[in-house]
Formats: sequence, structure tokens, C-alpha cells
Amino acid sequence: MASVPAAAPSTVRGQDAPESLDEAWARIRGLSERLAAPLAAEDQVVQTMPDVSPTKWHLAHVTWFFERFVLQQALPGYRPPEERWHYLFNSYYQTVGQMHARPRRGLLSRPTVAEILDWRAHVDAAMAPVLARAPDDPELAFLVTLGLNHEQQHQELLLTDIKHVLWSNPLGPAYDPALPLPPSREAPPLTWHEHPGGEVLIGAHGSAAEAGTGFCFDNETPRHGVHLRPHALASRLVTNAEFQAFIDDGGYQDPALWLSDGWAQVQAEGWTAPLYWSEDGRQVFTHGGWRPLDPHVPVSHVSFYEADAYARWARARLPTEAEWEAAAAAQPVAGNLLEAGWLTPVAAPGAGLTQLFGDAWEWTASPYMAYPGFRPLAGSLGEYNGKFMCNQMSVRGGACLSSTDHLRASYRSFFYPHQRWQVLGFRLARDLD
Ligand SMILES: [Fe+2]
Repeated sequence: MASVPAAAPSTVRGQDAPESLDEAWARIRGLSERLAAPLAAEDQVVQTMPDVSPTKWHLAHVTWFFERFVLQQALPGYRPPEERWHYLFNSYYQTVGQMHARPRRGLLSRPTVAEILDWRAHVDAAMAPVLARAPDDPELAFLVTLGLNHEQQHQELLLTDIKHVLWSNPLGPAYDPALPLPPSREAPPLTWHEHPGGEVLIGAHGSAAEAGTGFCFDNETPRHGVHLRPHALASRLVTNAEFQAFIDDGGYQDPALWLSDGWAQVQAEGWTAPLYWSEDGRQVFTHGGWRPLDPHVPVSHVSFYEADAYARWARARLPTEAEWEAAAAAQPVAGNLLEAGWLTPVAAPGAGLTQLFGDAWEWTASPYMAYPGFRPLAGSLGEYNGKFMCNQMSVRGGACLSSTDHLRASYRSFFYPHQRWQVLGFRLARDLD
């Protein structure tokens, strides 16, 4: 398997040995540093576009999160080693102070990678008494768990951002030159999985702090009823070969297939293929460097606009997030996720409704909006999710760079419709009536 070290998540450790919070702390904090370990310090400073953050910024920002939202509340007398770093590593929390401009994160040669790693160790040590106390303090345990889930989100961003950084280098250096190719297999024929429609419940009941259930983000709540129309979901994600047929049929040149904003984006950017494809469509850039494009694996690094245009071309549509969740709720969180070590989508494993989790995040037809009755977290942490509920689309299911224990059927992520630097793919859906 891949040489990228990924620790086993708690979900595969067995029912009778649940992971303690300090075990989760060591595992998740350690993984961030292991994911950065193959990189030179020079790699970790570069920012290639505003959406991309430097590796060392990710390592620092998640540490700032614990310092600002946990240690400064829970550990009286705690003093940050360098107060001025809060300005550099606050991302978007306007209610806790000003911040360095996002597009200028790549201009920070200081603090150095070594200083940031020392800061991480300082915060790890300071957290020891907090972790010891957390089991008896549900609110504190929730804050620490939120911070660990936040760090997992940034682990995925670290991997997607460094891919863009390395791709932007004309030499195309690999994150992991020894990354093995996944076993090659044919994608199974696409079949349709019908749902009769009717009322379904989606969303999470509430966080551990509120309802005594497992962790969830505020944007997954409250659980609520949604009426589905009779529909069918495709059995697997759309493949590179299928997307190539769209390209060959002039898909990128036919305005009738595109949303107005999508067509404007294609014209402005000159898009003719997914991000990371070579000009001749035979190679694709991966964490292992340039590799042959496998026609059987899911297409990835496409925008919502490209997914939507393909669906129109294929006389289908994208699933709504409620349709997706109704199907995913019946399945275990399993698939080609970070722990598999491939760091790239692989062909669907066989018949049945597959690839709901892992491989590529799935664009849905649903705008990322508040659920009915949604209440953001109290205080500054209310800025985490709720203020982004405008102009973005919900994506579901995680990708090959997502940790297994980070995902749920109710998990919602979100991106602007033009974005495609994340591992974003899609499956088709269609109406039955
Ligand atoms: Fe963050």
C-alpha cells in the first residue's frame, strides 16, 4: 500500500475498545505532522491561488484553533507563546479579531516550519490537563472533539492544496514518488437504484453536547423530514471514460448544455477538461506525480458547472442531498478513503449502489442552505459553518483524502460551483415520474 502513513481510525478498532479523547488527540494531531513529513520546508510555504493555503499555514491554523477556542477558556493562566501569530492564523473568525488576508498566506516566510512544529508541541503539552478533565465535562469534550474534527478537515485540505502546489511546478514533483498505482479493474456497468419517493428523515439529531449522541457539525442539524419524488440513483460515480465521451461530443463547446454562470466560467477560463488532466487527456496529475489516466476510475476535479452540464448531456440530473443521504444512511462508512492509502479515486468495486463514501466528493443539486430550524453554535464558533450558507452547493460522501471516522451519512461539505481543486466528482440521478 501507499507509503503515506495513515493511522487506523477508531471506527475500525473494534466495538469493545472505544478510543479515548487523548488517544484520538494523539492519533489525529500526529497524522497532521505525518502528512506534512514528506514535504520540504520550501514546499510548505507556497500558495498557488487564494483557495490554496500553504501546508505550514494549515499546521499552524489548527493549532491556533485549540489555543483560541479551548486553551484560553479552559486553562486559566495559559499564555500563547506568541500572541501576534493569532493575526496570522485566524482564518475567518471576525468576532475574535482581525486576520491576515487569505490570498497573502503564501507571503509568510516566518514563522518557520520548525517554529510552527514547536508551537504544536507546546499546545499538545498544554492540552494534557484539559484532556484529562474533558471526560467529566461534556462541553469541554465537545470543544476538543470539534477541534479534532476541524483538524481532520484541514488534513484533507493540506493534501488537496499541496497537490495544486506541486502541479503548478513545471517539473511536476510528486508528493510521494513511491505511491503505488491502485490495482486496475473495469468499472462495472452503470445500473439504476430506484426509490419510490415519500417522506424521509435527514440530518443529525444534534451534537454530543446537546443530545448525548455522537459528534456532528451544527450544519447537519436539526434532523427533519423531506419529501422525495420517485427517483433513481446511478450505481456508481461517473468515470473518466464517460466524461471523455462528453468532451469528444463537444460538451465544452455547446452552450445549450451549460448553466449561464457555468458557460461564462468555461469561456473565461478556457476549460476543455477536468483540472489536472494533461492536454492530450492521457495523463493526470496525482500525489504520485503524472500518471496514466485510468478510464475506469471516477472523474474528479470537476466543478459543479461541469457536473451539471454532463448530467444534462446524459439526459439525467444530479441527486439532491436528501436523495443522496436517504441512500447513504443505509450503508456503512466504507470505501476508498484516506486509510486505503491510494490518495486517488479507484474504479467501483462491483455491482450494487457503490462509492457513496470515499473516492470523490459528490456534487449535489442542492444549494448549501440552513436546514429548517437550524441554530448555529453559540458564540464565535457560530461562524464555523452558518455564515457560508449562501451561493455554495452541498457536496456529500467524502473522498479518497477524507478520514473514515470523520464522515457520516449526514455530513455536509460545501463549495462554490466554480471550484474544482478539491477531489470533486458526481453520480447521476433521474426522475421516475
Ligand atoms: Fe479552519
